[in-house]
Amino acid sequence: MMDSQTGAPSVAIVAVVGAGLLGSQIAAMTAASGRDVRLFDVAPGASEGALNRLRTMLTPVIAAGDLDWDLDAVLGRIRPVETLAEAVKSADLVIEAVREHLPTKREVFAEISRLNQTAYLATNSSSLPSSLLADVVADPGKLVNLHFFSEFWVRSMVEVMGCGETTPETLETMAAFGRSLGLVSIVVRGESKGFVINRIWRAVKRESLRVVDEGHADPEEVDRLWALFFGTKIGPFGIMDSIGLDVIADIEDSYIAVATDPAEHRSRVLHDHVTNGQLGQKSGTGFYAYPNPAFTRASWPRQSASDDDEQGQAD
Ligand SMILES: NC(=O)c1ccc[n+]([C@@H]2O[C@H](COP(=O)([O-])OP(=O)(O)OC[C@H]3O[C@@H](n4cnc5c(N)ncnc54)[C@H](O)[C@@H]3O)[C@@H](O)[C@H]2O)c1
Repeated sequence: MMDSQTGAPSVAIVAVVGAGLLGSQIAAMTAASGRDVRLFDVAPGASEGALNRLRTMLTPVIAAGDLDWDLDAVLGRIRPVETLAEAVKSADLVIEAVREHLPTKREVFAEISRLNQTAYLATNSSSLPSSLLADVVADPGKLVNLHFFSEFWVRSMVEVMGCGETTPETLETMAAFGRSLGLVSIVVRGESKGFVINRIWRAVKRESLRVVDEGHADPEEVDRLWALFFGTKIGPFGIMDSIGLDVIADIEDSYIAVATDPAEHRSRVLHDHVTNGQLGQKSGTGFYAYPNPAFTRASWPRQSASDDDEQGQAD
């Protein structure tokens, strides 16, 4: 079947594999576009849990008018399923959002491709080019990176990147799919580790972590300077907390694994946080304490949290 507007083959049934922070949001966006979604996660109960998390996450967003959704109808189009086979067997597109770990993704893609040899296959990897998956799938012509972003109602964009063997028709269909979710679709030309924005963001993360590891500033100071310089309310450490520090560590490892610069190594401050279970917003503590991190205070970034506390005590 063809899409009447784009002329590209239509994508009606979508499977999302991995029901974590990103998989759940990809499922929601896709369901909001009117498509049927099957959601699978290897962790028992994770897909049902994702629906509850989506309700908690999206209710205030809808109340604030940032999304014009009938949430019950959207969540009703997402079907949590028990097996990978059930998720992918009749899907037109399978989007993978499991952890950022190449051997895991290769295993998942080999299995998906064994179960469904005709669907478009997309990885939501933050840093791994889909070319690293091409040899395990039946048809690399239908394989792409589709890089979505958390908090899609704000970061409403998707990067599309081929694997080197991806057909132009697949790239166009995937870009049209992104647009049909209300996102700005950018097709990355050639292959770039980290695509466009994550490659730039990785440089920011690496240097922010190094500045702290080397003892030049603490995370809040980096973020305050960043926020003042760029006129934002949140800085690199606040963003890392929102993504999840375990996810950031996996992404960093994927860059370090292929780095030629000997100065590239896992950041100490990042490693310590992950080892202590301080994973950011999702665990309640990361570089900031939640639910009311310092950067949400009215006086921030002009004043640090400790300035505020001292003034509070003086008052
Ligand atoms: N967190 C972000 O902001 C962000 C943004 C863009 C892309 N990504 C990428 O999306 C992917 C997922 O990230 P996330 O933040 O959602 O991670 P997450 O840890 O929140 O979720 C990952 C989920 O995958 C599941 N999983 C692990 N192995 C699986 C398997 N073999 N089959 C099915 N499910 C499996 C886990 O149980 C977990 O629920 C990663 O590649 C990450 O780099 C994350």
